[in-house]
Amino acid sequence: MTRILRIDSSARDSGSISRLVGDHLEARLVTTLPDTRIARRDLASTPLPHISNPTITGYYTPADQMTAELHDATALSDELIQELRSAEVLILTVPMYNFSIPSALKAWIDQVVRIGHTFSYDGVRFSGLLTGKRAYVICAYGASGYAAGGAFSAANFVDPYLRFLLSFLGIEDVTFVAVEATTAGEATLAANVDAAKRAINSALEAA
Ligand SMILES: Cc1cc2nc3c(=O)[nH]c(=O)nc-3n(C[C@H](O)[C@H](O)[C@H](O)COP(=O)(O)O)c2cc1C
Repeated sequence: MTRILRIDSSARDSGSISRLVGDHLEARLVTTLPDTRIARRDLASTPLPHISNPTITGYYTPADQMTAELHDATALSDELIQELRSAEVLILTVPMYNFSIPSALKAWIDQVVRIGHTFSYDGVRFSGLLTGKRAYVICAYGASGYAAGGAFSAANFVDPYLRFLLSFLGIEDVTFVAVEATTAGEATLAANVDAAKRAINSALEAA
């Protein structure tokens, strides 16, 4: 069995290009991997709360000193981390909002990046604890030029951030697929969506 966790973060529940390309990836994974089980988090239809003061206190409180209040404050983080740990494959669909990721996705990240649970620190080095997973990140950009060497690459705080973050958590087998110019004309958009689908097909054939 292969467990997939899919996280969608576009605020659009229709017309979203990141979700559309994510659907293609999901369909291909289902046909190439054995007996897939898919867990989903739609961060637009079911937004997650931001972490609060008691949540952070709970993150840094040793297990034997946790109070009922702190257990409550970290219960959602526990659940989301368990969901992430259980998955062998992670799919993130991510639009660029103001050069970065949607705040809905950042809320999920703040719930799952947690010392002693998804990364450790020995006083010198950080180590990611989510090893052995594969991740696919589908990024949709309204404009173009965000790829390395492109005119806007310095403004891309989506791909480099997520690449670093996943590696920090121990997820090193990561495939990024970009769809640029999603706000351009119909023909350009169709060509770019096709190119992204082809990139997915090639990545899965090579895996
Ligand atoms: C609030 C907001 C901010 C955006 N900021 C940017 C941006 O900084 N750069 C860019 O190229 N496109 C930007 N866009 C365009 C989106 O990245 C583009 O429409 C993308 O396709 C959205 O993903 P989706 O199609 O999955 O909804 C923004 C769109 C919205 C709604």
